[in-house]
Amino acid sequence: MERVDPVVTPWEVRGEVDYKELIEKFGVEPITEEIVKRLRKHSSGLHVLLRRGVFFSHREFDEWIDSYEKGVKVILYTGRGPSGNTHLGHMIPWMFTKYLQDTFKCDLYFQITDDEKFLFNPELSTDQVAEYTKGNLLDIIAVGFDPERTKIFTDLTYSKPLYNMAVRIAKHVTFSTAKATFGFSDSSNIGMVFFPAMQAAPCFLHQYLTSEDAHVLIPCAIDQEPYWRVSRDVAPKMGYRKPAGVYSKFIPGLGSGGKMSASLPDTAIFLSDTNEEAVRKVKNAFTGGQPTIREQKERGGNPDICVVYSYLYSLFDEDDRAVAETYSSCKGGGLICGECKERLARKVVAFLEDHRARREKAKDSVGKFLIKE
Ligand code: TRP
Repeated sequence: MERVDPVVTPWEVRGEVDYKELIEKFGVEPITEEIVKRLRKHSSGLHVLLRRGVFFSHREFDEWIDSYEKGVKVILYTGRGPSGNTHLGHMIPWMFTKYLQDTFKCDLYFQITDDEKFLFNPELSTDQVAEYTKGNLLDIIAVGFDPERTKIFTDLTYSKPLYNMAVRIAKHVTFSTAKATFGFSDSSNIGMVFFPAMQAAPCFLHQYLTSEDAHVLIPCAIDQEPYWRVSRDVAPKMGYRKPAGVYSKFIPGLGSGGKMSASLPDTAIFLSDTNEEAVRKVKNAFTGGQPTIREQKERGGNPDICVVYSYLYSLFDEDDRAVAETYSSCKGGGLICGECKERLARKVVAFLEDHRARREKAKDSVGKFLIKE
């Protein structure tokens, strides 16, 4: 079969992504045992997303830990583009960011790029983006970030500091670099061309606001990496440390192939789904099972291509022994897909119920998190 080259840009992720290849292409480093060991020293337990390789690569994460150990102020920065309702895939970097905040007791700057989604999506009005922003904000707060240490802002409502930072950055980035990094063309609107400076701005925002030295770490999905390349290039020119990064894979949709995507709602679990909707989606998921139970028992299933197994492995089953057991009994024909789906469905429902309760509570604390000018 002819292999179609996968595409990974901040605006499009398509095809079968080869993460080893991506490490080469983006010039990032794989997460090594060494780094895991160093994290273990500082945290009471390693996060499942790290143990199971969902966070798989980084840039100078080790130097960021060095800074922490030396007493340099360390900071986290992550974000969300409010282009729709939140699904499980969006939550992955946020959950990991919370773990890092708890572990290193550090400040978090959380950017909501309402400008980006308006500029890049011809169909979205500012009103629609504002509506998504409201809902997304509750999902973000529901993750459980520390209200004393977390500042959430949107580009359109916290413009003055961000714009001040962004113009300083933009002066160092030529159109030719922007074109090469982001693929802009003559038909891109001029807002799009400037936008990377807005996403780079929070890398230096704390330093700008406080005149304090700080080392920033950005936990995010790997598709955001091009922004940090630009940010890292300009940092020394502006007298700042280069931001470090730790990058995740994409979680697959429930169908066969491709990442979880809001544009394929039947294969994405939205945090706004009812229990019944979520269960139905899990029950229809692509598995590595045989067409009949008899064949499954005789020949075993293939967990390596199974989406249900990958959800249990990546996120929903933290028990190493239980996961290993699922893997081997699936292969040996001792498990049928219905059982695994049942188990995953229960875990997803528990997750959603917990999230719903936290989201409801979040409504009372928006004021504690959201910063305005
Ligand atoms: N561009 C991101 C998106 O579309 C949003 C974002 C802004 C972000 N700043 C970030 C994501 C920092 C991760 C880290 O979702």
